[in-house]
Amino acid sequence: MTPAGDTAFALIEALPLAVAMRKWLWLYPIVEIAHIVGFVTLVGSVAMLDLRLLGLSRSISVTALSRHTLSWTLGALLIVVPSGLLMFTAHATDFVSNDAFLAKMTLLMLAGANALWFRVGPYQSVAAWDSGAQAPAAARISAALSLLLWIAVISCGRLLAYV
Ligand code: HEM
Repeated sequence: MTPAGDTAFALIEALPLAVAMRKWLWLYPIVEIAHIVGFVTLVGSVAMLDLRLLGLSRSISVTALSRHTLSWTLGALLIVVPSGLLMFTAHATDFVSNDAFLAKMTLLMLAGANALWFRVGPYQSVAAWDSGAQAPAAARISAALSLLLWIAVISCGRLLAYV
């Protein structure tokens, strides 16, 4: 890390919210519980659609399920990201030199890119395979990749405390 980088993250750790996250006994655990509730909801809602795309419960309409799960996914992001950023500020200089954290952030971006690709790519033809039919290979590949990436994000998140 460059001296400028060190300073920037040290400045983040000096923010009043970051200081409170370190000083108040219950604040960090409460924020971490919110983070866990958030990512359980996020990954759970994503996994429901991925499993449907992989062929489970073919009688359920993909578009109806997608509309239902997407609101939970986006809602969960509103909890996961702020709580994650809050925890990050408390020990920013440690986290930026933590390989598990860097891997997690990289995997998060890949999971986001995969989800975006699915929406602008295979999902555009959903009317042809909405229910009762097998999803096209591109949609199934995206769904399998999504499950693997989110499991990897969770694994890196858990390994943060050990690396
Ligand atoms: C969006 C999907 C995300 C998932 C699935 C996720 C998952 C996890 C998991 C599994 C843990 C470990 C929890 C524990 O063992 O108690 C964790 C911790 C953590 N996450 Fe996330 N996270 C996500 C997003 C973020 C974001 C955007 C940030 C922001 C920088 C972030 C920052 C952190 C930090 C700093 C911890 C460490 C808490 C600690 O052990 O002290 N996470 N996350």
